[in-house]
Amino acid sequence: MRFTSLVVSALAVLVSVVLSGALECSEPAQTVATHGGELYERTCSVCHGSSGEGYKADDAPALSHPEFLASVTDGQLRSAISYGRSGTTMSAWAIERGGPLSPSDVTAIVAHLRSWAKQPRAKLDERPRRGSATAGEALFARECVRCHGDRGAGGPSEHIGGADLLAGASDGFLRHAIRYGRAGTSMPAFELSLGDQGVEDVIAALRSWAVTNANSSSSGSSSSFARPPPLPLGPVPLNPKGPAPVGFKPTPATTPADVIKAALDRGAKLALLDARAPSDYMGEHIAGAVSVPFYDPDPYLDKLPKDAWLVAYCACPHAESGNLARILMTKGFTKVTVLDEGLGYWRNHNYGTHKGEQP
Ligand code: HEC
Ligand code: HEC
Repeated sequence: MRFTSLVVSALAVLVSVVLSGALECSEPAQTVATHGGELYERTCSVCHGSSGEGYKADDAPALSHPEFLASVTDGQLRSAISYGRSGTTMSAWAIERGGPLSPSDVTAIVAHLRSWAKQPRAKLDERPRRGSATAGEALFARECVRCHGDRGAGGPSEHIGGADLLAGASDGFLRHAIRYGRAGTSMPAFELSLGDQGVEDVIAALRSWAVTNANSSSSGSSSSFARPPPLPLGPVPLNPKGPAPVGFKPTPATTPADVIKAALDRGAKLALLDARAPSDYMGEHIAGAVSVPFYDPDPYLDKLPKDAWLVAYCACPHAESGNLARILMTKGFTKVTVLDEGLGYWRNHNYGTHKGEQP
């Protein structure tokens, strides 16, 4: 009798020790995911949506998609977030690339993304590749190019031929995406229409292009930068003694690039604010622009002029710049506008861009 009650109380102690241990372990994990959730909301939701549903801006893919989360590895997520995807609006967010996120911030965001998972990890088919790139090119032209672009770059959907994406994606990940598609997005399932061999051929073609796409990538996000952010604010405004610009429309309206360029050519008083991550700024920015990232403009607010027009821009064309402009309006700035077409238009019209950390 005595012995049994002793065993029972010993068990009770044991259970409570195990339980409190479990609580101690789960609390930091939850804090990490909460920190990740806050970072995600501030930095990522503008394009990927608050619950990772995707397509909020820039055709940013769905990050909470069950098939994506079941097939992607943490390593793949980390490198997409840290190093970005050159040639797309997905920035390099890691400090070592000139972005705002420390390695533990990236871990926290990955934990937040994982908290959306609704199904267990898929068992990926990682058998050796067995396709023909030549056959795959023809299939790609027929089935994929309209969404993913020539050689998997420059189309409306993900740049699946991009060297950054392909470096992280295993053949098993690609097979999974191509066979089963992403229900609820426009990515079809090709298991039946292409068959096993067709899927293999398309993957062989993608792998053969990754090499050339790597050489031709234009954005700065894949090069490395020494300086951690934030960048010092350059001189603002440009032309402090110049006339006021004409034809600028305050937020939420936007102002055409041609109108802004004409104002600059007339020596008008204005400031150009690059709303993207500093990694993008260092890769290429409008000549004369300063870096004021949309997710953390606070350090710069008291240095920005209230009596000059502030022109926000991004590559997006309006997502990040629109966010920055709205924040500036709530902070009491009234002469705020967004460059309508974004950086790409400025570059394509040779209106003047710079690389590096100087305006
Ligand atoms: C009608 C448009 C459309 C077509 C056609 C299409 N895709 Fe996609 N594809 C998408 C979209 C959109 C996504 C991103 C889905 C998401 O948000 O999860 C995607 C995602 C993918 C991904 C996953 C990339 C990643 O990192 O998550 C791969 C691989 C892919 N597509 C390959 C192909 C191939 C190969 C073909 C042709 C056989 C093809 N797609 C045809 C729209 C399309
Ligand atoms: C300006 C819009 C924008 C912002 C802000 C943004 N992304 Fe992206 N992201 C994209 C686009 C566009 C892609 C697809 C790039 C491509 O074509 O390869 C992408 C791709 C990704 C991918 C790879 C998905 C896949 O299917 O392979 C991950 C993971 C990701 N983003 C996470 C994040 C996180 C986390 C943040 C915040 C720290 C973030 N993104 C901020 C636009 C954005």
